[in-house]
Amino acid sequence: MTFRIAPSILSADFARLGEEVRAVEKAGADLIHFDVMDNHYVPNLTVGPVVCAALRPHVKIPLDVHLMVRPVDRLVGDFAKAGASIISFHPEASEHVDRTIALIKEHGCKAGLVLNPATPLSHLDHTLEKLDLLLLMSVNPGFGGQSFIASVLPKIEQARKRIDACGKPIWLEVDGGVKIDNIAQVARAGADTFVAGSAIFGAKDYARTIAEMRAQLAKVV
Ligand code: DX5
Ligand code: ZN
Repeated sequence: MTFRIAPSILSADFARLGEEVRAVEKAGADLIHFDVMDNHYVPNLTVGPVVCAALRPHVKIPLDVHLMVRPVDRLVGDFAKAGASIISFHPEASEHVDRTIALIKEHGCKAGLVLNPATPLSHLDHTLEKLDLLLLMSVNPGFGGQSFIASVLPKIEQARKRIDACGKPIWLEVDGGVKIDNIAQVARAGADTFVAGSAIFGAKDYARTIAEMRAQLAKVV
């Protein structure tokens, strides 16, 4: 199993974003998780394609763009041009989920679908085989630093079964409240990609935090 750690810039110092993404890449991050909020789909406002494009030259690792915006489609091309590698969106935010997945792929990006804690896995019925990534929220989207919702663990297990049955190399990412002390549990449930905002950017030593997360993951068989 390949495990990936994706620091979320939401908890970074926004006045020094370039420096912050370079620091987490150097500290061993596999992806940069880029949270886009619109004060409409979620009650918070963050950054858009201009900031994504500005960060792109600062790191070599992929930019994992998590769109918490409605509508979705108009921004897909903008983020593809801004250097996004993965673009994920919430099904509730798109009028035509299949069309949005196709649009992301037409722009040369990997496509991800994001399910909130109370959004059922039935959204995968006609989409899973078209996805590159499934992102399960373990908090309600909108803010960093919230507590992990433990009832998402059986949902991660079920999602892992569906991905394995489908046979495609779809990444299973979990976002919200992931820390050193619960990352192994999340991995045991079946996740392979871990978003961590406050756990990494809230720590003094990014490399040490990521190394401790990897040490926890190494215990998972
Ligand atoms: C929440 C965002 C998350 C958030 C995670 O809406 O999608 O990516 O930044 O932050 P932590 O790891 O602090 O829960
Ligand atoms: Zn996110």
